[in-house]
Amino acid sequence: MLRSTATTWGVVTRLFHWGMLLLFAGILSVGYYMTDLPLGPQKLKVYALHKSVGLTLLALAALRLLWRLGERRPLPAPMPAWQAWAASAAHVALYALMFLVPLTGWLFNSAAGFPLQWFHLFNLPALHASDPALKSIAKELHETGAMLLIVLGLAHGAAALKHHFLDRDGTLASMLPVVGGRR
Ligand code: HEM
Ligand code: HEM
Repeated sequence: MLRSTATTWGVVTRLFHWGMLLLFAGILSVGYYMTDLPLGPQKLKVYALHKSVGLTLLALAALRLLWRLGERRPLPAPMPAWQAWAASAAHVALYALMFLVPLTGWLFNSAAGFPLQWFHLFNLPALHASDPALKSIAKELHETGAMLLIVLGLAHGAAALKHHFLDRDGTLASMLPVVGGRR
């Protein structure tokens, strides 16, 4: 049950999927909240938390991708070819964003000349020297990437609900935290 089968996603993939979804919901909320905070120690603390959780998500994305590359994918439920193609394209794009968003955050932080720590435990190196031009490009990319992640994540979640309630084909059940698969 740890690994995916022809009809259902394995427990490890489900844990990655829903655990990371919770962390994404948290970090996105914190991201939009923190930028409006008045300058001060409280703001620095919230920024540090955002960065630590973001680095955690980057490491989880790498582990998730490695696991996924060693897995078989359950056979998709019967659906028009364009839908199967769109679903796969969305999964690939979501994986790309899971890397691009934290990496552009890290790049922005480096180009701005800020230090970077993971939960006060250890320091991480800068990806680039201080650079005001790069700083604004990376910031733009970080914000656009986060917005794309929301839009694509919502469209992908809506498609999953459409499979469940309209097509009734077991696609959602194959990814739910409880045991379930495609009929
Ligand atoms: C998957 C992980 C991440 C997500 C989803 C995310 C999302 C966000 C969002 C939504 C914002 C607010 C953008 C806005 O105001 O329009 C933001 C800002 C920011 N993020 Fe992230 N972030 C992630 C990881 C990181 C990492 C790893 C770092 C640094 C190492 C980082 C550094 C920053 C900084 C410094 C800002 C503030 C930008 C400013 O002051 O305008 N983020 N992030
Ligand atoms: C909004 C709620 C969401 C729901 C209801 C949902 C549901 C699902 C379902 C049912 C599948 C299985 C699809 C299939 O068998 O073809 C799936 C797969 C997947 N989902 Fe989601 N999802 C949601 C949000 C997200 C978000 C926000 C991300 C990325 C940040 C994401 C990334 C993925 C990926 C990459 C796959 C492919 C399996 C894998 O390699 O992990 N999902 N999702």
